[in-house]
Amino acid sequence: MIGFDLTPEQVALQDTAHKFAANEIRPVASECDRDGRFPEEIFRKSFEIGLMTGFIPESLGGLGLGALEGCLLEEELGWGCSGIASSLTANGLALGPILISGTAEQKELFVAPFAAGYGLSSFCLTEPGAGSDAGGIKTTAQRDGDSYILSGRKCFITNGGHASQYTVFASTDRSKGHKGLTAFVVPRALPGVSAGKKEDKMGQRASETSDVLFEDVRVPVANRLGEEGDGFKIAMMTLDRARPSIAAMAVGVARAAFEHAVKYAKERVQFGMPIAMNQSIHFMLADMAMDIEAARLLTLKSAWLLDQGRHATKESSFAKAFASDLAMRVTTDAVQIFGGYGYMKDYPVEKLMRDAKLLQIYEGTSQIQRMIIAKEILIR
Ligand code: CAA
Repeated sequence: MIGFDLTPEQVALQDTAHKFAANEIRPVASECDRDGRFPEEIFRKSFEIGLMTGFIPESLGGLGLGALEGCLLEEELGWGCSGIASSLTANGLALGPILISGTAEQKELFVAPFAAGYGLSSFCLTEPGAGSDAGGIKTTAQRDGDSYILSGRKCFITNGGHASQYTVFASTDRSKGHKGLTAFVVPRALPGVSAGKKEDKMGQRASETSDVLFEDVRVPVANRLGEEGDGFKIAMMTLDRARPSIAAMAVGVARAAFEHAVKYAKERVQFGMPIAMNQSIHFMLADMAMDIEAARLLTLKSAWLLDQGRHATKESSFAKAFASDLAMRVTTDAVQIFGGYGYMKDYPVEKLMRDAKLLQIYEGTSQIQRMIIAKEILIR
């Protein structure tokens, strides 16, 4: 059975997120972009109304929403500002490995606190020499009695400087490549943990991206997720679940650019008529609208599959690649429709174009998504 109507509860959620994006996020978005300011007050407010705890099961104090509801929220937040949305929803990625592979006790200890009170957690996979090649991690974790000694440097970590807890992927056996990776929960308070350089990014500048350093950090064995060697699969399964959210955010960014372009095309008069009267503009707007709808359908389908407990690796990558590439196209075309004004910081679309670029890069580049899709078609 196929239905495209949302339930009244889903509509109410969408409405809450939309109002938050319009009334709280948009008013500060351009100032945060200009100054690279991390708007912690917005994150705290969003926590208070439940926007940060949707993915946490009710048994742990969260709202227990499905992936589909998560995508509905993410589209609205992305429509508000994708930089703010990236930081606001990063706990879902960081705590995902614990929800996927943690014991009941680990979930109580390391996830429930993020439902009980405001806090940030970061997903620490990427390293200077291991971006797309996630299996090439150099951070090590050496067993020493009832703990591990963790050493290494993670980079491009969302909320890295503000997080109180990190989910870290490290090698417990370098000779085994990706099969030697293991996942750990590392509280920020442990001696040897520190946040490093904050990046000065092209877009999504409200979101903090920084290094996180681990210098001989003694991590209890009780903080290990799964067994030694499970880390790579835990990371991949987490990314499968997280990528539809990025796709939804991309749909939100594209929708924002599209709305600005439609409004401007109707208002801007050249050659004695609104530029919206030109067929060249018709075609651009029609392509934008059509592609946004296609991206939304791919996104919601991948989320729905995840909610059914089905294998959705290929569909998550379809959604992530299609929606982020589409956001780049739509924001670029919106700048084109605005012409010279579109290139100026006084108008909203150049920010959307800069923000969109990151959607094609983080949580697996558009090229990596195509590699995953091809592997799913040819090998698995
Ligand atoms: N679920 C479960 N297992 C999976 C899996 C999945 N989705 N994908 C792969 N695996 C398993 C495979 O079955 C295989 O298992 P065996 O060893 O038992 O055979 C193993 O993992 C290795 O798989 P591959 O051979 O496919 O691995 P690979 O080395 O060729 O690389 C890759 C796969 C898809 C390219 C992967 O490295 C990848 O996703 N890279 C991108 C990393 C990424 O997205 N980084 C983003 C960081 S997070 C971020 O950006 C957020 C932020 O805060 C900024």
